[in-house]
Amino acid sequence: MKSVFFTMIAVLLSTAVLAAEGLSIDISSSAVERGQNVFISNCNACHGLKYYRDRDHMSGYAPLMDAVTAEATFGAAPPDLSLIASARGKSTHGAEYVYEFLTSYYTDADGRVKNRAFAEETQTEGVTAMPQPFLAEDPELKAKAHDVAAFLYTVSDPSETERRSLGKYVMVYMVVMTALLYALNKLTWKKVNKKLER
Ligand code: HEC
Repeated sequence: MKSVFFTMIAVLLSTAVLAAEGLSIDISSSAVERGQNVFISNCNACHGLKYYRDRDHMSGYAPLMDAVTAEATFGAAPPDLSLIASARGKSTHGAEYVYEFLTSYYTDADGRVKNRAFAEETQTEGVTAMPQPFLAEDPELKAKAHDVAAFLYTVSDPSETERRSLGKYVMVYMVVMTALLYALNKLTWKKVNKKLER
């Protein structure tokens, strides 16, 4: 009897731990949807998503500017972003990097525009060929960066998103099952004990 009780406590605790671990990037469908719009308005001029698929984009997004022109203009070819979120880190770390990259532009003492996240990632002084994609004073800069990072996360690993939401249901199912089995166990022993008493 006691061991059932402890199993139940353990299951409940592990659920709590899983829930608390959370994600610093919210990959809810509303964030992802907003992020897709951010991508279209702020990134697609230079970047493509050749592996992205939905009903309206059977062959992904092509960048509006061709790679040769972009490279001549900015000094580096804008990479395709289909896999960037998994290329820059495991789990949601890659998406966190995208967020950091988009929000860590600054101007140094000599007036040069640099990027903190890019400096760390590339082990350079952080001069990136990518111009700051949002106006520095845009009050929604952080929200836009967050949402587009969430979108790029689901683009780079669509099945991971499914696994995560499935995982939640599995945990709920396990908690409910444990509670039911515990109750059933209690009931059974109550009956047995009654019979033994007689
Ligand atoms: C005006 C063109 C342009 C726009 C608009 C643009 N980018 Fe870029 N982006 C570039 C270029 C060029 C590079 C290559 C930078 C380099 O290697 O220095 C790049 C690189 C990147 C990288 C890779 C950084 C790394 O670690 O190597 C990411 C991620 C990225 N862009 C995300 C975005 C997102 C998200 C948006 C929209 C919010 C966006 N970019 C908008 C031109 C652009």
